[in-house]
Amino acid sequence: MSLEVIILAAGKGSRMQSALPKVLHPLKSKPLIQWVIESAKKLNPRQIHLVVGYGADQVKAVVKDEGIQFASQHEQLGTGHAVAQAMPLVNEHSQALILYGDVPLISAITLNQLLTCATVPSVGLLTVVLDNPKGYGRVLRNSSGEVVAIVEEKDANDEQKLVREVNTGIMTLPASLLKSWLPKLSANNAQGEYYLTDIISIAKEQGIPIHAQQALSAEEVEGVNTLEQLASLEQRLDD
Ligand code: UD1
Ligand code: MG
Repeated sequence: MSLEVIILAAGKGSRMQSALPKVLHPLKSKPLIQWVIESAKKLNPRQIHLVVGYGADQVKAVVKDEGIQFASQHEQLGTGHAVAQAMPLVNEHSQALILYGDVPLISAITLNQLLTCATVPSVGLLTVVLDNPKGYGRVLRNSSGEVVAIVEEKDANDEQKLVREVNTGIMTLPASLLKSWLPKLSANNAQGEYYLTDIISIAKEQGIPIHAQQALSAEEVEGVNTLEQLASLEQRLDD
């Protein structure tokens, strides 16, 4: 099955306190988005789709020579809504891989491992166990250890907040399943957003296996939300 990568990059990145779209901030003088595109290209995808919104023209100008297919998300209504904007141009028979434009150090090795589950219809979910999971979506498992849902921090109860295995946001599944599940998402949650993460409980309901794979390091799945985080990643690349 051919691979199509969907990179989400429509958010403003308010916490960067800068007018520059977040994904254009440089890490080692290379824009964050460029790091992600380079990892994606190592997987030889048939197509890379980039969902742009805030600062779309600036982002497009920076990556214009990369052979990327752009999709516009005019209002940031959530990660599920963002992916939906790219779907009309994603081939029904492909395997979809979703990446975030602000997670620059994701390695092609980890992504290739995640994609090995693509031989049977399933959802591959990249997770990581953190000492401090605050702010992330928590991965919920049943008593048999199977992943059953992801709950966002803002929707989680006290018990769920104790879970330290979190969603990195990176996942892979057949495009046909993604296309059939996205219309089922609702914005009936604490943030009033269409959460991509709700497809995990839909998969479970429909009996589609969910393979949770842990990242090689917490660093490769670290998202950049603030200038401090960016500086700290840069520092660690120097070490
Ligand atoms: C998301 C996940 C959470 C996970 C975390 C990992 C959901 C609902 N939650 O939360 O489970 O632990 O990432 O970092 O998916 N974006 C758009 N359009 C939108 C919203 C977001 O393009 O409407 C893009 C952002 O630019 C960013 C990515 O999607 O690249 C993630 O968005 P963000 O708002 O940071 O999601 P989180 O709340 O951190
Ligand atoms: Mg985030």
